Amino acid sequence: MDISVLPLSADKMKAKFKDESHLGFGKIFTDRMFLAEWSAGKGWHDARVKPYEPFVLDPACLVFHYAQEIFEGLKAYKWDDGRVALFRPEMNARRFQTSAERLCMPEVPEDLFLNGIEKLVSLERDWIPTAPGTSLYIRPAMIAVEPVLGVKSSDHYYFYVIASPVGAYYAAGFNPVSILVEDKYVRATPGGTGEAKTGGNYASSMKAGQDAKKKGFDQVLWLDGRERRYIEEVGAMNMFFVYGNHIVTAPLAGSILAGVTRDSVLKLATTLGCTVEERPIDVNELMADFKSGKVTEAFGSGTAAVITPVGKLCYKDECVSVGQGVGRLTQRLYDTLTGIQTGKIADTFDWVRFVA
Ligand code: COI
Repeated sequence: MDISVLPLSADKMKAKFKDESHLGFGKIFTDRMFLAEWSAGKGWHDARVKPYEPFVLDPACLVFHYAQEIFEGLKAYKWDDGRVALFRPEMNARRFQTSAERLCMPEVPEDLFLNGIEKLVSLERDWIPTAPGTSLYIRPAMIAVEPVLGVKSSDHYYFYVIASPVGAYYAAGFNPVSILVEDKYVRATPGGTGEAKTGGNYASSMKAGQDAKKKGFDQVLWLDGRERRYIEEVGAMNMFFVYGNHIVTAPLAGSILAGVTRDSVLKLATTLGCTVEERPIDVNELMADFKSGKVTEAFGSGTAAVITPVGKLCYKDECVSVGQGVGRLTQRLYDTLTGIQTGKIADTFDWVRFVA
């Protein structure tokens, strides 16, 4: 499908950020956005890059009432030689399709997903920050825009992409976070939408997140919805526990997100001489392993969070702390992953896709 580029008038152009060390996460947006529409009987049409501006939407649109919405997150990096690299965007394209299927939304063809992103990023390349730890965060999303109050899947959708120059997701940067294992609320249940990247999963997790913040924690670690016993994920990250040279993470059993960074960590870890295991992790055993010193490091992974070390984990009335500062393997994985993403380390996995 052809993608048209609408003119950007001077009054729609924003002042660029001046200080790359204070970007924060997802607070400023570039000049343009990508938008394509799907209508019943017509399919995908009107793909265009246009000035970034608010949508004018009917208050009855299905997305506002029944949350028919999905999204993705990926990053673009500007290399020292001027090339712009995306990291494994095909995985985001496929996961977007899986999420769409679960939410009864139309499939966005992989080439429309990738070409829309590439066209936008190519036009917005001057917005890509280059300081260490920064990137252009790309947020594709699809929303149901049919104005009707009956509960049904929409006959009209917007697939759009916006982009935001970002620094670290957590205010503390690449420093250990504290995590509370949530034992009251659950994020997902078997057969639910836990593995789809849909806004509702995040909306329903906010209460627990807010309660945990009041107690001084950065994040909540979810347990499974059936037995409240097995480790699932932190809303913005998959979790990894390091036992010496052995790394353990929860399996993809339908209720957690199949993270692109999770998959990359599993593959990278083996090249760094580690063994990896995807298995159910019983929280009681995990706490015991922390206390006996068997768990040597813990970290989370995600596109926004990259690799984030965990310094403290609390479950019920018990807290364990993990090492001092950033663990050795956590640091190596962070350095290797970000090295590949930014062109400092050879990409032997063929993960990088350059923007024309
Ligand atoms: C990402 O890592 O890209 C995410 O979508 C997590 C988000 C909730 C910030």
